[in-house]
Amino acid sequence: MAKSNIAIAKVCFLILSHVCSQYVVSHTMVKFLPGFEGPLPFQLETGYVGVDESEDVQLFYYFVKSERNPKEDPLLIWLTGGPGCSTLSALLYEIGPLKFNVVEYTGSLPTLLLNPNSWTKVSSIIFVDSPVGTGFSYARSQHASQTGDLKQVHHLRQFLMKWLMVHPEFLSNQVYLGGDSYSGLTVPVLIQEISKGNEEGANPLINMQGYVLGNPITVPTLESNSAIPFAHGMGLISDELYESLRINCGGEYQTIDPSNEECLNDLLAYHKSISGINSAHILEPVCAFASRKPQEMSKRSLIDQLQGFVDPEPTLPTIGCRTYGYLLSHYWVNDENVRKALHIQEGSIGKWLRCNYGIPYTTEISNSFPFHVNLSAKGYRSLIYTMAIMTLLCHSLRLKHGQEL
Ligand SMILES: *[C@@H]1O[C@H](CO)[C@@H](O)[C@H](O)[C@H]1NC(C)=O
Repeated sequence: MAKSNIAIAKVCFLILSHVCSQYVVSHTMVKFLPGFEGPLPFQLETGYVGVDESEDVQLFYYFVKSERNPKEDPLLIWLTGGPGCSTLSALLYEIGPLKFNVVEYTGSLPTLLLNPNSWTKVSSIIFVDSPVGTGFSYARSQHASQTGDLKQVHHLRQFLMKWLMVHPEFLSNQVYLGGDSYSGLTVPVLIQEISKGNEEGANPLINMQGYVLGNPITVPTLESNSAIPFAHGMGLISDELYESLRINCGGEYQTIDPSNEECLNDLLAYHKSISGINSAHILEPVCAFASRKPQEMSKRSLIDQLQGFVDPEPTLPTIGCRTYGYLLSHYWVNDENVRKALHIQEGSIGKWLRCNYGIPYTTEISNSFPFHVNLSAKGYRSLIYTMAIMTLLCHSLRLKHGQEL
């Protein structure tokens, strides 16, 4: 800890003496993690970056250096959805270097294995717990705990600039942003902000190249008619049913004329076809979800629920389900020695939640489509992929047939 603080003071003194107090960044190398045998075979750093005027918003991050050539490889900043889901999900279940050894929980600390497909084989990744209130990120005042889309974007831009100031060896690396689900709304706006800042001569300049989004939200659910063409493209419904839907519903699957019997019957057949499919991962079965029942469902978390990110019933998943791994994370991360190893500030948060749906959060961006258009025109590269099938909200269908789908 002391070592890193000296490095920060130097940066402040030479470059930023006038705003030195804004650059309190604590970071520490993590050599061992409970549950993983031996020293970690990759470089992991964890830390906090204080953002907002008073630094009362403390954003926690995990940084994994590229295992190939960190000097040349891109730097990726990764966000998880929710809003309110910890970025540890990305590190342990998606693109990071570690994964759980998924065996039945018997009361001892879950163990970790290496993920041979980690994206850190070719890039350095900063996994950020954002917005404040997510994972290990915390607020030092009531005021600072209030957040939303635009605040989050503002905080993340500050985060990135401050992080780069204390890691100047990465200033010349190509930078990419990435995330999934809800990040589909915030990432394009964040890139536009960074791009604007660069054009206005911000210091440091961020060498922004593009973005990667998985299962992203782009337009409001009720305006999207893409689920059925997607289901057809993925082979989840037959050519015959798709043709019939297309003709009978005229391509409009959200706002349906209740007297259009043919369309309603086709939609019912569609829902029957996909009912056993995990909506967030179409290649996996429907599983119970290891997440708490949210006290109050926001509009956004309702969307997540429909996408299969949250199960309204607090039932236990069975082993073999992706969600069993989610359950293990609660036992692992909330272990005192794990929190010590990760250098979590004592007393900063209570119990760690994989997804915290209790964050006071204002949704402000409902459609990121125009931002995608602008970013493409500016030459930013993007990769957008999906394994999720959005559930249609067919009220008229329910009314008509008097049944829940
Ligand atoms: C896209 O770019 C145009 C032209 O610079 C600008 O007027 C518009 O506000 C931008 N759209 C968004 C969503 O920021």
